[in-house]
Amino acid sequence: MPATVLVGAQWGDEGKGKITDILSETADMVIRYQGGNNAGHTIVVGEERFALTLIPSGVLYPQVTPVIGNGCVVDPAVLLTEMAALADRGIDPSRVRVSANAHLIMPYHRKLDAVRERYLGRQQIGTTKRGIGPAYMDKFSRDGIRMQDLFDPKIFRQKLDDALKEKNKQLVKVYNQLEMTAEPIADEYLGYADALRDHVTDTSLLIWETIRDGNNVIFEGAQGTLLDIDHGTYPFVTSSNPTAGGACTGAGIGPGSIDKVLGVAKAYISRVGSGPFPTELDNEVGERMVEIGGEFGTVTGRRRRCGWLDTVALRYAVRVNGLTEIALTKLDVLSHFDALKVAVAYDSLDSRYTEFPRQQRVLYNCQPVYEDLPGWGTDISKVTDYEDLPEAAKQYVEYVEDVAGIPVTMVSVGPSRAATLHKE
Ligand code: IMP
Repeated sequence: MPATVLVGAQWGDEGKGKITDILSETADMVIRYQGGNNAGHTIVVGEERFALTLIPSGVLYPQVTPVIGNGCVVDPAVLLTEMAALADRGIDPSRVRVSANAHLIMPYHRKLDAVRERYLGRQQIGTTKRGIGPAYMDKFSRDGIRMQDLFDPKIFRQKLDDALKEKNKQLVKVYNQLEMTAEPIADEYLGYADALRDHVTDTSLLIWETIRDGNNVIFEGAQGTLLDIDHGTYPFVTSSNPTAGGACTGAGIGPGSIDKVLGVAKAYISRVGSGPFPTELDNEVGERMVEIGGEFGTVTGRRRRCGWLDTVALRYAVRVNGLTEIALTKLDVLSHFDALKVAVAYDSLDSRYTEFPRQQRVLYNCQPVYEDLPGWGTDISKVTDYEDLPEAAKQYVEYVEDVAGIPVTMVSVGPSRAATLHKE
């Protein structure tokens, strides 16, 4: 397992945290390459449940160096709070490394995220309101403030003053909000510098050296393929590239360094926030998926929308990420349904689509074309060997392999590390 990119194959919440956690047992470094504290990773170890939003899941293993790459946006208060929470539970956070080039989420980013959503009304994206989009906007308009600026108070203050000139106009004139003043923001942020100094470094170099020396490295994607700013269901997406290519730019490595691309997909599918969702079940079946699957967000606690597995979207994820294998999660949730359906195509605007449509209008009108698969109707959450799964459950997994054209190497049947079946 030299260098593996792990990506969400759907709209996020596929159970990536658990799979990263399992792979981390034999990893030396786990790297986040995009997003920020909009991501929620829940990991269950024994009786303990860990919810992380920014620090990579691998932090729970003492041999792992957790890295937050240049492609991430960092809210320093959240980072410090997560490190302190880990320390409280006996996990050493001193190993956490953060790219000096990662952009900071500033208070005005959070404010603008929230007021913009309100302003959009029914058109809103349903963001996590953590300031992610506005922070990436500043990065790309070259107005961003980076981690390294925390250690140069003069430059920090100058960039902050420049930014506020424009942000305040926006806040006051467009969104009818109060102005923000530089002084308290500078005091707060520069006050983080000492606590962060030993963590901030050239992570691209660090990652390169780690790979060069033959160590095992995992690139942990947040969100998912269909939330990608380029390849997702735009504009109902996040503002970064969760797809595998994002690992290169967001960590500062070349594509030749990547050996495997593991896609994590739930055995059904879910989405939080607004936007098109062809297999959404706005009925009792969907409601049962939410309840049985515990489909509520780790970050915002919002109810997730649920639906049957969409193999059109899954094949798209295989293609745009160059997936080499799949981890299929939450198969146990499907034990509660007698008859299962999977979408194999969409009907939209008088045409049938077997490839994921690129036009928003087509996607909005998609009606899924389903194939029926038999359910198994028995609890599989205690199964420890893939071969011991009921025939219909194995048939479901093998069906996924057939349509995706790549192997399913892991099947998750419960939240704990132990409830993971490795398939040859
Ligand atoms: P943002 O990333 O906060 O800007 O939100 C943009 C969209 O991505 C919204 O629909 C969010 O609900 C969704 N989103 C962001 N992070 C996650 C995640 O970790 N899992 C699932 N959806 C997410």
